[in-house]
Amino acid sequence: PVDAHVVVAVDGPSGSGKSSTARGVARTLGLRYLDTGAQFRAMTLWMLDHDVDVADPAAVAACVAEPRIESGTDPDDPTIDLDDADVGQAVRSDDVTAAVSAVASVPEVRQRLLDLQREYIGAGGIVVEGRDIGSVVAPEAGVKVYLTADPAARAARRRAEAGEGSTTASEQDLLRRDHIDSSRVTAPLTRPDGSVHIDTTGFTLAEVVAQVVTLVKDDDD
Ligand code: DC
Repeated sequence: PVDAHVVVAVDGPSGSGKSSTARGVARTLGLRYLDTGAQFRAMTLWMLDHDVDVADPAAVAACVAEPRIESGTDPDDPTIDLDDADVGQAVRSDDVTAAVSAVASVPEVRQRLLDLQREYIGAGGIVVEGRDIGSVVAPEAGVKVYLTADPAARAARRRAEAGEGSTTASEQDLLRRDHIDSSRVTAPLTRPDGSVHIDTTGFTLAEVVAQVVTLVKDDDD
């Protein structure tokens, strides 16, 4: 049995296997699971639905308090609700994917979601995935992993997730979004201090989950 209050931080770029790994670890250890990317996506969907110019940080900042965003933290059925509607499918659209890096770079957006994320983390017992979890959201996390994979493997995963017709699954598009996520001023994607780096390219999902589960169990010894 692991510490019931453990926080496991899973960071990395898109397509690195974060979501599947984080869910698998939570399921194996009986922990909750929080997808913070889905919260940034829900925020972005709200902006698009309300005709907010996502290229204008001041316009985005002016309405950050309005969307009601709720995450379901069961790893077998993670959900994301926006203003009481299930938007689990809508947040994966190419329109949202193309706009989310810009919205996520607005400091007011990050502050609002940081507060929300800390509420969900609460007393712990959770696996949290994102870009700044080990560095900013939960620097006290007992276990931090930083996942990467070759760009070709990442693009293939993104295509599997978004469908063959996706316009946001090319290696070039992934690298463009990585650049925005890594070079923003507030809470950029970075490899956190004290994190374990796992390159998932040559491993199966089960192998990566097992590696992280071992880290969590070792942390408890
Ligand atoms: O993991 P994802 O592809 O669903 O993330 C969507 C976007 O949100 C991505 O551009 C990075 C951003 N994001 C972030 O800035 N911080 C997080 N903790 C999670 C996601």
